[in-house]
Amino acid sequence: MAKQIGMKHGNDGENGSFQGICESFNVPYTGSNVLASSIGMDKVKAKQLCEANQIPVTDSLDFYESDWEKDEDTILNEAEMIGYPLIVKPCSLGSSIGVAKADNKDELIEAVEMAFRYDAHILIEDAIQPLMEINCSVLGTTENCRASVCERPLGVTETLSFKDKYQSGEGADKGMASADRIIPADISPELTEEIRELSMKIFKTFGASGLARLDFLVNSETNKVYFNEINTIPGSFSFYLWEKSDISFSALMEELLQIALKNHHQKNGRVLTYETNLLNEKAAKGIKGLKGIKN
Ligand SMILES: Nc1ncnc2c1ncn2[C@@H]1O[C@H](COP(=O)(O)OP(=O)(O)O)[C@@H](O)[C@H]1O
Ligand SMILES: [Mg+2]
Repeated sequence: MAKQIGMKHGNDGENGSFQGICESFNVPYTGSNVLASSIGMDKVKAKQLCEANQIPVTDSLDFYESDWEKDEDTILNEAEMIGYPLIVKPCSLGSSIGVAKADNKDELIEAVEMAFRYDAHILIEDAIQPLMEINCSVLGTTENCRASVCERPLGVTETLSFKDKYQSGEGADKGMASADRIIPADISPELTEEIRELSMKIFKTFGASGLARLDFLVNSETNKVYFNEINTIPGSFSFYLWEKSDISFSALMEELLQIALKNHHQKNGRVLTYETNLLNEKAAKGIKGLKGIKN
């Protein structure tokens, strides 16, 4: 019986490398395939894919360390045309490592140089403000998927004031004990639906599978929604969003395994290799000789 492998989150567990090993050894695995995993891990490629599919993203520019060394001024000018405040990010890291906000040129240069410590490819983007972050998880395949309830993770200051408000003193509501997020997100039904629909569209656009969490930046004054990132192996598999969507943790795990097995069977049910040596046939008969060759 084939071994079933569950994926590890972060870097090589999430960026397609491990998925590639599983593909090579024909081992079924949960989650997205090599392509979706690797594009999802690259913030610049992910934005380009979204832009090409009319999924809204923030204005941005990207460049490599060699571009910066050659012509820092042009990059700074282009960034200033987007306008401060700006956000600087290494292209392929997670967990906010190397992400910084810049309000002026000095801070921008400092943020870029700091980001180069982590990656040779950098993204500078328009900082959304006032910012509200909303996340939504999608479960299934590109052919058949569904979206969870939305969550609103709270920022550090907001978390503190929230804890102050709801958790200080006697008789504080114990249900709020780990209140660093609000589920379901305290946003309008219209915005919730817009984000759930957009999440499924993005899941399909990336060709994701199993489960992903889509993170959005929302301008809380205008309610304009921007794609921020797709996490193909989100922390805790976003189980807390599915629990609030009436899917228990064990049912979620079961479904992820079933999807992995289905993908595996589909892959193995298709003809992917040819017994005939095509190159020899071509050498013997020319390209026309290939017509009609079947497995
Ligand atoms: N364009 C932006 N405008 C405002 N805040 C942003 C923007 N991009 C990122 N942030 C803030 O920085 C955090 C980390 O950025 P993100 O792109 O999610 O990187 P990571 O992959 O490290 O999670 C976000 O959760 C958000 O709070
Ligand atoms: Mg993030």
